[in-house]
Amino acid sequence: MRDLRADPKTLDPIELASRDEISALQLKRMKWSVAHAYQNVPFYKKKFDDAGIHPEDLINLEDIQKFPFTTKQDLRDNYPFGMFAVPQEDIMRIHASSGTTGKPTVVGYTKNDLGFWASVMARSMRASGTKTGDIVHVAYGYGLFTGGLGAHYGAEKLGCTVVPVSGGMTARQVTLIQDFKPTTIMVTPSYILNILDEFRKNDFDPRDCSLDVGIFGAEPWTNAMRAEIEEAFDMHAVDIYGLSEVMGPGVANECVETKDGLHVWEDHFYPEVVDPLTNNICLDGQSGELIFTSLTKEAFPVIRYRTRDLTTLRPGTARSMRRMDKVTGRTDDMIILRGVNVFPTQIEEQILAIKGLAPHFQIELNRDNRLDAMTVHVEKSRNSDPDELSELLSARIKDVVGITAKVNLKDAGSVPRSEGKAVRILDNRSKE
Ligand code: DLL
Repeated sequence: MRDLRADPKTLDPIELASRDEISALQLKRMKWSVAHAYQNVPFYKKKFDDAGIHPEDLINLEDIQKFPFTTKQDLRDNYPFGMFAVPQEDIMRIHASSGTTGKPTVVGYTKNDLGFWASVMARSMRASGTKTGDIVHVAYGYGLFTGGLGAHYGAEKLGCTVVPVSGGMTARQVTLIQDFKPTTIMVTPSYILNILDEFRKNDFDPRDCSLDVGIFGAEPWTNAMRAEIEEAFDMHAVDIYGLSEVMGPGVANECVETKDGLHVWEDHFYPEVVDPLTNNICLDGQSGELIFTSLTKEAFPVIRYRTRDLTTLRPGTARSMRRMDKVTGRTDDMIILRGVNVFPTQIEEQILAIKGLAPHFQIELNRDNRLDAMTVHVEKSRNSDPDELSELLSARIKDVVGITAKVNLKDAGSVPRSEGKAVRILDNRSKE
């Protein structure tokens, strides 16, 4: 794999700033953002007034802890435009979260917001190893989802040639990669596996293709999956994180030279981690729920937004801005099985540790005699011994994760494939 680290001369000066400089900028911007939300969004005014707190009480960065949290439910209650802080004619674009249950959450951007977003996306891509002049294949979905357009504008800002393929039509994805020879691909980790299948179906060796780096996000994925993808394509696999409520992709990104967690672009987003049960603040190094306060957003400021994503904050390495660990999962994806908490990523790790299993899986939950039961549907790769593999996987899940799971070994190609975010959990418990 090529050494793709960015030339320090090409970085934004703030990426190399001292902690003191970063904190000073954050405080200035946080004071603006909190006052802006209070003055222009009735929801925040009421919430702060009810909590007996005023923007002027924010003297230090830590004072943000005195302000109330904002939840996804708050955004739903103000559907569609109630959280906007600028008049509708200043909103240049709308996006919305997928909203599998109930109404989606709607977010808006001013012209300046779109400019900042493109800059942090360009920064994320540069950290991933993409260079000005590169050809970038964008296979994140275009539309209300922030993935496609977010990546698109970032790539243009970095001065790349963008191929706006969007998700789906997997055979065509492979043709375009073979013909246009992009060096960067931006896509969900589960969809790149689908694209990988298509390469193999056509007897193309993915290691021979032009790709040098894949920028993968929008769903949890493990370091074991990184190793699998890097080996299959002979390219770097780098993690990108974001969420529509906070902006979209590009809130945090790994650096290709270290791949040791995602640097949060702290000049635009102020992160905190709290214990999701007690709401106590976690120190760097302690894991909990990630919270964000936007520092520059005009149309849709968020103050202490609860992401429900679980991670740990750590000091910076390749950049001065702090890192977050790869997200292990969302609080809502946590399966509680007979008292043990389990995330799909833990199952993914065990599957990838067994040679002979393919990284395609779904977890089915049922209620058996009032007890929860888990079945892992997973594919075997060709020519492997099914009995031994099922036993091996359930033993590993028992030993390492600490739960009993049935394993349903399936033929290659029979677990549903994703063209965007993978559906990992099939929960039949409420239906029984
Ligand atoms: O998924 C934005 C995005 C697009 C990020 C493309 C990266 C790449 P939403 O649809 O609002 O936005 O979903 C946000 O997806 O709260 C996490 O639970 C999950 N997520 C996003 N990135 C990662 C990641 C986009 N790198 C939700 N690792 C977030 C784990 C991720 N989970």
